[in-house]
Parts: sequence; structure tokens; C-alpha cells
Amino acid sequence: MSAVRMDGKALAEKLRAVVAEDVRAFGGPVCLATILVGDDPASHVYVGKKHEASHEAGIESRDHRFPSDTPETDILDLIAELNADESVDGILVQLPLPEHMNEPSVTRAVDPDKDVDGFHPINAGRLFLGEPLLVPATPLGVMAMLAEYGIEPKGAEAVVIGRSEIVGKPMSMLLLAEHATVTICHSRTADLGAHARRADILVAAVGRPGLVTPDMVKPGATVIDVGVNRTDKGLVGDVDPAVFEVAGHMTPVPGGVGPMTIAMLLRNTLTAAQHRSELRGTGVAAPGR
Ligand code: GUN
Repeated sequence: MSAVRMDGKALAEKLRAVVAEDVRAFGGPVCLATILVGDDPASHVYVGKKHEASHEAGIESRDHRFPSDTPETDILDLIAELNADESVDGILVQLPLPEHMNEPSVTRAVDPDKDVDGFHPINAGRLFLGEPLLVPATPLGVMAMLAEYGIEPKGAEAVVIGRSEIVGKPMSMLLLAEHATVTICHSRTADLGAHARRADILVAAVGRPGLVTPDMVKPGATVIDVGVNRTDKGLVGDVDPAVFEVAGHMTPVPGGVGPMTIAMLLRNTLTAAQHRSELRGTGVAAPGR
């Protein structure tokens, strides 16, 4: 029997409509600022989609694009300006940045209360301590898909392949918070197949086409493919499509996790606006913000 196809496109549309309603209910303006440096075509497409989706959800957006030879200090100056700008709720620096920039120093310059990517150490720490506020959008989208399809992490064996700051690590924390037993595998894992075969929930987030093959999957398992690989055959994930014949539930690529990321970015932008509004209401906000 073939796995249930977990339709991220349909769920993302539904969730974006819910965010739009919640933005209306919030009552005030909500604003996302994006920063894109360089000419990576995929990044330009992603950022364009983020603006389109923001507009549809009633979120204002500001689009800052720079040539690839822009000095890092120019970007840090803009981030400082956006941090101080009361009308901006969320700031997103599209990755990857050009080679001459230090990604952590740039992403860490973003005010943690406006960090809609959830990359700042304060937000990583909040997640680690079980007090999440702004959580990276892709793993947040995976959790929403599991919930939608009634996949219960509690007590499940969850195996996450990949230990990136954007997906693998926060994914593991979110599954742990939902009481899964979590194993994190990576490039130095001795016997990946042995770990993967134990998984009730298997998340592949490495960026290697065909990494997960049918023999590595327990029959009936839920397989989440976070891979985004551009090949001659078009966009493919990390999971061999033949796994559909073994898994119980599985996300396709494209149309699985990808569309969820933007929906969750919109949710995070509203969360940031709500949080900042609460901080202002209680007088906790720093002067000038
Ligand atoms: N590049 C690839 N994925 C992401 C993401 O989730 N956020 C940002 N800012 N850049 C990315």
C-alpha cells in the first residue's frame, strides 16, 4: 500500500488564511522587512514569494535588496535601523549570504523580538529551555503537518537526519518538547540505516537526493522530507520516492514541507507583532521601540 501523501500546499493555504484572519483581529499594522544580498536566483524567488504571501495575509512588507559586493557593515547598519524602527515587527535576512559575510554576526544583529527566523541565540535558547517564542519556520511547519495528519510524537521514536541550526537542531527540540524519543543523525553517524529503521517519525534534512531509501524505513512510519535539491530532474527531496511504498505517511517534494515554511513565517511575524505589543503594554519595551 502506498503512503498517505501529506499535502503541505493545501495545509499552508489553510494556515495562511487563518493568519490573515488573526492579523485582522490583531487590529494594528503588522510589518515584515526582508534583506536579500546577492543574486542567487532561488533566494530572489523565495523572497518574492514571502512578500506576495505577506501581502495576501494583510502583512505589510519592505524589501531591501543589495548587490553581492555590499560591505557587511552596510547590512549591519540597515539591521540597526530596522531594529529601532517601531513600525517594523519582523526582520528576515535571507540566507545564504555572500562568502565575505559572517552569517552568525549578521543574523545575531537582529533584535531577538523581531527575529522571525528564530535564528538568534536568545530564540534558540528559549526553544531549548521549553519557552519558545520565535521558532525556525521549517521545523514549525513540520510540527503543524504532523498535527494535521494526527501523527502523535508522544512516545514515538523520532529520528532526525541533519543537525543544521535552521532545521535539524530546532526540529529535534520541537519533537522532544512533544515527548518523542529523539535521535539526531548526521554525516558522522556510524550506521544511519540502523537508526532510521527504528523511526516512527523520520525527518530527512540534509540536502542529498536519494539519501533515504526504502530499506531504511520501518513499514508504516511517517517520513518527512525537508530536502530541497535542484537536479536535472527538477526539484527533489532527500527521500527516494520509492519510500512511498513503505511509509504510512510521507511528504512529497515539491508540495510537502516547502510551502509550510512561508505560512509559518507569516505566523511568526504576527507572533512578533503581538509579543512586541504586549511588551509595550506592560512598559517593558526598551525606550525608542
Ligand atoms: N534560506 C533557506 N531557508 C531559509 C530560511 O528559512 N530563512 C532564511 N532567512 N533564509 C533561508
